[in-house]
Amino acid sequence: MKLLKEKIQQEGIILSESVLKVDSFLNHQIDPDLTVAMGKDFYQHFSKGKKVTKVLTIESSGIAVGLTTALEFGVPLVFARKKKSLTMNNEVFVSKVYSFTKQETNEITVSKKFLSADDHVLIIDDFLANGEAALGLVSIVQQAGASLAGMGIVIEKAFQDGGQKLRNAGFHVYSLAQIIRLDHEKKKIEFREEALV
Ligand code: G4P
Ligand code: NA
Ligand code: NA
Repeated sequence: MKLLKEKIQQEGIILSESVLKVDSFLNHQIDPDLTVAMGKDFYQHFSKGKKVTKVLTIESSGIAVGLTTALEFGVPLVFARKKKSLTMNNEVFVSKVYSFTKQETNEITVSKKFLSADDHVLIIDDFLANGEAALGLVSIVQQAGASLAGMGIVIEKAFQDGGQKLRNAGFHVYSLAQIIRLDHEKKKIEFREEALV
């Protein structure tokens, strides 16, 4: 997605060879027009021959783009929670997500009320790195007995193995921008031109 790649080039801050800060439009401050455009792009890609009844993401940074995508499809957005809510009791699907950055395992939960075997679920997330969060969401879709329509990712760090892992497992992964290299020294961000599907 051209608009997104330009925004990343203009505002992305390379923190290291593996971490890109994009808090001016995605992770802290949010760009509404860009977020609407991302939802339209995901809709264009995934509406072709695919049935979608729910969009599923994980709090917090997946929610904005998850919402604009759900709006295009005219379906609800469900976001997995990272903290157990008091009102959620035991009626939840639970999945463990390992974070390489934090080196800890966290549980994510989704209420059983909001996903069922009748659902066709499109997973949306802001970043794809090692794929742990995405796999946690897949596990929740599977626990619900629902079908997985695909996974839409805003920024895929293609130099980490999440994308390959998920595609090898047979999932339909579509990323709006694929970064193949972050050059910290030269402050250069390299994209893959032909987006892998
Ligand atoms: P890892 O595989 O690279 O270790 O990442 P991990 O799954 O532990 O994800 C930790 C958090 O960092 C996630 O957000 C993930 O989306 C985000 N993330 C991973 N790589 C990058 C990156 O290069 N840049 C930015 N900006 N974020 C990255 P989270 O903790 O779930 O936070 P939230 O923003 O969704 O609340
Ligand atoms: Na994030
Ligand atoms: Na995220």
